[in-house]
This record gives sequence, structure tokens and C-alpha cells, in this order.
Amino acid sequence: TGLVTYDPGFANTASCSSEITYIDGDAGILRYRGYPIDQLAEHSTFLETSYLLIHGELPTTDQLASFENNIRRHTLLHEDLKNFFDGFPSDAHPMPVLSSAVSALSTFYQDSLDPFSQHDVELSTYRLLAKLPTIAAYAYKKSVGQPFLYPDNSLGLVENFLRMTFGFPAEPYEVDPTLAKALDRLFILHADHEQNCSTSTVRLVGSSQANLFASVSAGINALFGPLHGGANQSVLEMLEGIRAAGGDVGEFVTKVKNKEAGVKLMGFGHRVYKNYDPRAAIVKKSADEVLEALGKRDDLLDIAIELEQHALADDYFVERKLYPNVDFYTGLIYRAMGFPTRMFTVLFAIGRLPGWIAQWNEMINDKSTRIGRPRQLYIGAGERDYVEVEKR
Ligand code: CMC
Repeated sequence: TGLVTYDPGFANTASCSSEITYIDGDAGILRYRGYPIDQLAEHSTFLETSYLLIHGELPTTDQLASFENNIRRHTLLHEDLKNFFDGFPSDAHPMPVLSSAVSALSTFYQDSLDPFSQHDVELSTYRLLAKLPTIAAYAYKKSVGQPFLYPDNSLGLVENFLRMTFGFPAEPYEVDPTLAKALDRLFILHADHEQNCSTSTVRLVGSSQANLFASVSAGINALFGPLHGGANQSVLEMLEGIRAAGGDVGEFVTKVKNKEAGVKLMGFGHRVYKNYDPRAAIVKKSADEVLEALGKRDDLLDIAIELEQHALADDYFVERKLYPNVDFYTGLIYRAMGFPTRMFTVLFAIGRLPGWIAQWNEMINDKSTRIGRPRQLYIGAGERDYVEVEKR
């Protein structure tokens, strides 16, 4: 109390201390638990990285096998939960469907809601990691009017997700290993990013001692915004818009610089990175490889590359230190894989989930955690007397 600091957007306020993710925004460095992101992207798997984020250390063979098995056991959705999907309009965006279904998990799994019980938190963790891909696939199936597929637990998490998304009941579905590997790598790149908007939301909601499902559901809603995870969808819509207008990249950049009707170069800029986002560098390379492996040419990739070159050579972007962020190239890969634009942010959510869980755990176990309760500078009216309605 007493002195209150005003810091819009919390640009200079640390809300916690954390051992999970290290970013040096000037040098373009990102590490999970000390391990450089490029090494994890190259050598690890999404579930191994999830274990690392949540438990703090890379697992032994036995620890990893047990972690994976525990997740595998929980991939099914309760049949009653499946009915939820029928209640949404068929043109619903899958992100609010995802957050609603995750919120509903706390009604189905009342046996794992105590934030201070290690047993409950572990069980909720397995349930979330296992069920989010199933919920995401069902949100997709609902949006295209196709039947749901039960999970096939002989498959790994990413393979299972691809099959439930693109497969059909009673038809064999061959998972393309290039595609599965590329998606697994993208999930690793998204797995944590310290105190971003959705993660701060998860921590803030959790600081009231709300359960893990409720906190993660709130995080999904924060991620949906176009300045955050929703940017991957916005980037693709921006590229399509440029193509539809004749493909003149220079004209678009001029619009951005003139701040015409709030037009932004989506997929550019970052609160912390004032250098090339290290994730974007890996994604860009991956986009080339995936498109080639899938035998796809995409004229939107050409537009994206031209747009990037144009922006990086322009004073407006140089002065403001605006570089491509993780969202700039991911959509092109998702598109080549066959995902509709509206599923892009859902894929981000699947990737970010272990980070949310790890950060929530750190928050709940940190003795210095207090309920998140920012202060304000009051600038409204001074005291005045109530006036009866007929006298106003
Ligand atoms: N296009 C054009 N101008 C920009 C952009 C952009 N993408 N980003 C920032 N600027 C300008 C901004 O207008 C401001 O200029 P001025 O000083 O003349 O007013 C200056 O750069 C500083 O920007 P800011 O808005 O104060 O920066 P911020 O740290 O508050 O916002 C951001 C960060 C990521 C929200 C913002 O850069 C942005 O809106 N980018 C586009 C959306 C996007 O790609 N989001 C994904 C972020 S990375 C992954 C994730 O979080 O999901």
C-alpha cells in the first residue's frame, strides 16, 4: 500500500520468480529449464519436453515410458462430454469450443480438483495432456460435419491426434511420419514462453486457488486473441488478403506504416524479442522442408518471404526492432498439413498446454504466491450525491 507503480501492460513488472523458461530478448535466446530451444526442437519429443517443463529435468527411459503410458490411459472423452459438441453451432470457432470443453472437465472429474493435493494435480495433468488433442480433433470434426473417431492408444499423441482429425471410422489412416514429426516439433516450439498473456492468465486465475482445469480454460481464452495465439490465423488471413488485392507487398507495408485503420503486420513484433524470434527461425526452415516433403507449393509462402524481406529492410520496422515472431510462418505449415485456418490457434493451445501446467504448478507450490490482485490509479469522478431519476 502507499506507493503504487503504474505499468500498463506490465511491461516492466515481474509477477513471479520462475525456474522454467529463460528468454534473452535482445540476443534472441530461448531455453526451457536451461536447454536451448534449437536442441530440444532437434532432438526431443513433445512429451519428453512436456515432462522436462513440468518436472524440471529430462526424464530417464523409465520415467518417460511411465509418463507416456499415464497420458495414453486418459485419451478417451466421457460419452456425456461428447454431447457438448452437438450444442454448439456448426460454424462455431473451435477455440471457444475447446475452452468450454476444458472448463467442463471440472464437472466430470470432481475427484481431481484439489490444487494442494499432489495426487489430484498429477491426475488432472494426465487428463489434460491426454484429452486436449481429443477435444481439439472433435471440435474440428464437428466443424466439418464428420463423425468422431475414438482415440487409438497404440499410437503416440501426435499420430493419434492426426488420425482423429483427418481419419474416418472403419477406414485405415496412414500417419505420414514427416507430418507427425513436423507437428511434434511445432508443439515443442510452443510449449512454454514464460509470462505471456495466456500463461499470466493461468497463474492469475490459479492464484485464487481455482482448479487446474478452470485455470487452463481461462488460458485458452486468453490465447484466442489476435495479438497473442490468434495471430497465426490472422497472419494467414493477411497473406490471403494481400494475394486477393493483387499481391503488392510494398503497398501493404505502406498501409501498415501509415497505421491505416489499425493495420498491423501480423506475425511481426514481440514484447520481449527485439531480435529475430529464435522459434521463427526454426519454423521458417521447417516450412521449407515440410512443403517440399509434402510436395506442396504455396504462393502464400512466396508472399510471406517477400513481406519479411521488405519489412526487415524498412526503417519503420528496423527502428522499432520488429522481427518475425513464431506465428509468422507456422500457419503456412499447418495449411500444408491440411488444417483449416480456424484450427491454427487450437494447435498453439495443444503445444502451450505443458507450459501452462508447469507454470501453474510452480505458482501453487511457491510460498511467496499471493492472490493476484493488481492496483489501479483511480481517475473517475470525485464524491457526488445521488440524483433521483426524474431530476436528471
Ligand atoms: N506491425 C506494425 N507495427 C507494429 C507491430 C506490427 N506487428 N508491432 C508493433 N508495432 C509498432 C507499434 O505500433 C508501436 O509503434 P509506435 O511506437 O509508433 O506507436 C511500436 O511498434 C511498439 O509496439 P507496441 O504495440 O508498444 O508493442 P507491444 O510490446 O505492446 O506489443 C505485440 C507486442 C506482439 C502485441 C505487437 O508487436 C503486435 O501486435 N504484433 C502483431 C500481432 C502478433 O504477431 N502477435 C503474436 C506475438 S508472438 C506469439 C504470441 O504471443 O502468441
